[in-house]
Amino acid sequence: MSIIETERLILRPWREEDAAELYRWACDPEVGPAAGWAPHESVEDSLNVLRTILIKPDTWAVTQKGSDAPVGSVGIFPSPCSLAEKQPEIGYWLARPLWGKGYIPEAVRALIGLCFDRGAEAVWCAHAELNRRSRRVIEKCGFVYRCTENWTSALGDVRKTRYYSIRREDWQPAAGTGLARPQLDSAEVESGRPMVVPANGSEQQP
Ligand SMILES: CC(C)(COP(=O)(O)OP(=O)(O)OC[C@H]1O[C@@H](n2cnc3c(N)ncnc32)[C@H](O)[C@@H]1OP(=O)(O)O)[C@@H](O)C(=O)NCCC(=O)NCCS
Repeated sequence: MSIIETERLILRPWREEDAAELYRWACDPEVGPAAGWAPHESVEDSLNVLRTILIKPDTWAVTQKGSDAPVGSVGIFPSPCSLAEKQPEIGYWLARPLWGKGYIPEAVRALIGLCFDRGAEAVWCAHAELNRRSRRVIEKCGFVYRCTENWTSALGDVRKTRYYSIRREDWQPAAGTGLARPQLDSAEVESGRPMVVPANGSEQQP
């Protein structure tokens, strides 16, 4: 499976040796339940999750350049949204101490580019209605809202989930950065005020 490099991150396959570091972050009650899974209860629990869920194609450990330690996870899977026709959807979580640095938007942009390189016509992303942090990731990456559907999490609860997608024709890779960014819309081009997407992923109007 590929290793993906972004400006500040290396996305690499998960390994069984990651169990202790995975447990360190995945025991946090603010992380798993927001993404639909239970906080890990022990290193053995994390090892089991690695073996049964995380060590598989198209699921990557998020690491910061200069350290091989995993601090989060990103993955691509067939979207369960009824409008998506199994097109790829991107999911993610990050260790709480690293929230707010734009790491996940940076990783998600790289995965969007990968999906389009593989020939996808659209890429999907979703968040539970009340998950405003995930909503911000999705907005910053340029996804467009499509619909709200019920989704049953691994915890067994049914969540109203907002689905978004970005179409191939609305996307272009960011020149020279190895990252990718939403295409400028015509209003922005015509106004002569192009959107700038700096390394931290936030959008600015110069
Ligand atoms: C959602 C998540 C992956 C965002 O990753 P991230 O790399 O921190 O993303 P960003 O840096 O773009 O921050 C996104 C938003 O989180 C909020 N945020 C940032 N730092 C925060 C902090 N220290 N504490 C609480 N919220 C914070 C802000 O609202 C931010 O939006 P803004 O940039 O408009 O201010 C991360 O919060 C997370 O792992 N949450 C738990 C799991 C989860 O919800 N996964 C997604 C399931 S759909």
